[in-house]
Amino acid sequence: MKKLIIINGPNLNLLGKREPEVYGSLSFSEFLDAIRDKYNTVKVDYFQSNIEGELIDKLHEVGFSYDGIIFNAAAYTHTSVGLGDAVKAIETPVIEVHISNTYSREEFRHYSFISPVAKGVILGFGLQGYELAIQSFIL
Ligand code: DQA
Repeated sequence: MKKLIIINGPNLNLLGKREPEVYGSLSFSEFLDAIRDKYNTVKVDYFQSNIEGELIDKLHEVGFSYDGIIFNAAAYTHTSVGLGDAVKAIETPVIEVHISNTYSREEFRHYSFISPVAKGVILGFGLQGYELAIQSFIL
């Protein structure tokens, strides 16, 4: 069975409550239950942290044994050299996901330290972006 993991960065624990006009009103755990039901031929693990170093540690932990990482670094996307270096350092391919279309938002969201080292980038499709990333690892 393929092993995938979704890693979410800061403030994404508030999905469903946080700015629902931007990020939707579904909580991530509701979404994850539905995804695990639908894609039951793969293992989909989940990790969320608001702490940059914990995200780096998780990338190191899974990045040599998992088949795919789906990574929304949230605000750290635009600030973290360390997370970009971690993605570059590991072997498992990383798909970068953003719920919103970051290019249609403030200018500081237009640069990503993850994109240059990611296998691919999906943004602007809401939570469906995570599903599209899973499909890309299955097909
Ligand atoms: C986000 C976009 C980031 O700019 C923002 O800081 C987030 C969420 C997204 O999924 O759209 O927290 O990564």
